[in-house]
Amino acid sequence: MDNSKDLPPRLTRLTFHGPLSEARAAGIVDRLAKAQPTTVLDIGCGWGELMLRVLDAVPGARGRGVDLNGDDLARGRANAKERGLAERAEFVEESATEAGLGTADLVICLSSSHALSSAQPPLHTTEALRALRRIVTPGGRVLLAEGYWQRPPTEAELGAMWPDARPDEYDDLAGLVDRAVEAGFRPAWIETANRDEWEEFESGYQSDVEEWLAAHGDHPLAEETRERVERHRASWLRGYRDVLGIAYLTLVPVESVG
Ligand SMILES: C[S@@+](CC[C@H](N)C(=O)[O-])C[C@H]1O[C@@H](n2cnc3c(N)ncnc32)[C@H](O)[C@@H]1O
Repeated sequence: MDNSKDLPPRLTRLTFHGPLSEARAAGIVDRLAKAQPTTVLDIGCGWGELMLRVLDAVPGARGRGVDLNGDDLARGRANAKERGLAERAEFVEESATEAGLGTADLVICLSSSHALSSAQPPLHTTEALRALRRIVTPGGRVLLAEGYWQRPPTEAELGAMWPDARPDEYDDLAGLVDRAVEAGFRPAWIETANRDEWEEFESGYQSDVEEWLAAHGDHPLAEETRERVERHRASWLRGYRDVLGIAYLTLVPVESVG
């Protein structure tokens, strides 16, 4: 049987492109909807699942997602159409630059702060936070998902994570929240992905491809696909599992004095 046209799947098992449970997402959406945003901006939105849920929860609100990945944006558009949100949700394929983003009452930036700064981590978090502070309207909200170290990584873990991983690449949680405060926010809600959310995410990230590999060992793309998933799995299990955290910060801009 010629199965060479049967390409490896991509992220088909993920609802969110990050470690985020249905329960946590529901709590976040509920909290953000209470602030009644009329405009929502999702930076590095991927398929913008959380933005769509906010739009669903806030009748009349309009959303704009910006990302470089055309496939993910198409998935977002299709989901918006299916849920009757196409008129209120726009998915734009472009690089997020602060000048082109305008302002919004709710700014979502989930694991995408690198889109707002070219600085080396963790300075890029500060630069992204300052940009978010300028983009969010007075009285609005920012939802930021950002990495932090749950504990200092060992040399062996750093070596297994990704090329050039550094011990000072992330803050601890307190340091991350301090950065948000220094950038002009009050942290209205601080929460972190738990191990179940990570395992659900990491397994869902690869399980469709693992099943594809089991059935397509002789496919022309099998070898490079196997190498890719094995590299990623080693990076998680030998590197950042229980070391790298993701914090979800709901941030309120401090009104300027004077
Ligand atoms: C880890 S994914 C998170 C996606 C989405 N925020 C979510 O949580 O489901 C990071 C996203 O940032 C996007 N990205 C990277 N650089 C970008 C840039 N300069 N402008 C816009 N998006 C960018 C990637 O294409 C990718 O979709």
